[in-house]
Amino acid sequence: MRARQVQGGSEDSKVGFRDVGIGTEMMRTLIKQVCFMGLKVLTLSVFESNKRTIHVYESIGFVQTGRVQRKFLREGEYVDEVIMTLLLE
Ligand SMILES: CC(C)(COP(=O)(O)OP(=O)(O)OC[C@H]1O[C@@H](n2cnc3c(N)ncnc32)[C@H](O)[C@@H]1OP(=O)(O)O)[C@@H](O)C(=O)NCCC(=O)NCCS
Repeated sequence: MRARQVQGGSEDSKVGFRDVGIGTEMMRTLIKQVCFMGLKVLTLSVFESNKRTIHVYESIGFVQTGRVQRKFLREGEYVDEVIMTLLLE
């Protein structure tokens, strides 16, 4: 049977309330919900320059499973897209 999969996701905790655990908790809550829904694989992508977010996702268990080099042009600089995956079983 093919894994049920969801792709996407963007989370945003309020500026001034970062680095106190809110983003990690939001992701943990989301993951509990998608487990109830029966999803087996979560895939998301993030700018490679977004080190805080990559740290949060890796601390939850996501692993880097791909990279699209120079995917985005941001403020005159090319930025890679990092693909991250979490297996839920
Ligand atoms: C991504 C985001 C939701 C994280 O939320 P948060 O509430 O700050 O997350 P937490 O407080 O749970 O965790 C932050 C972690 O990043 C770490 N961190 C902070 N700056 C970092 C950096 N430059 N490099 C690596 N790790 C960093 C903190 O130490 C903390 O880790 P720890 O829990 O192991 O100490 C928040 O930064 C945000 O809203 N960013 C803007 C939107 C965004 O980029 N969304 C993701 C799009 S894919």
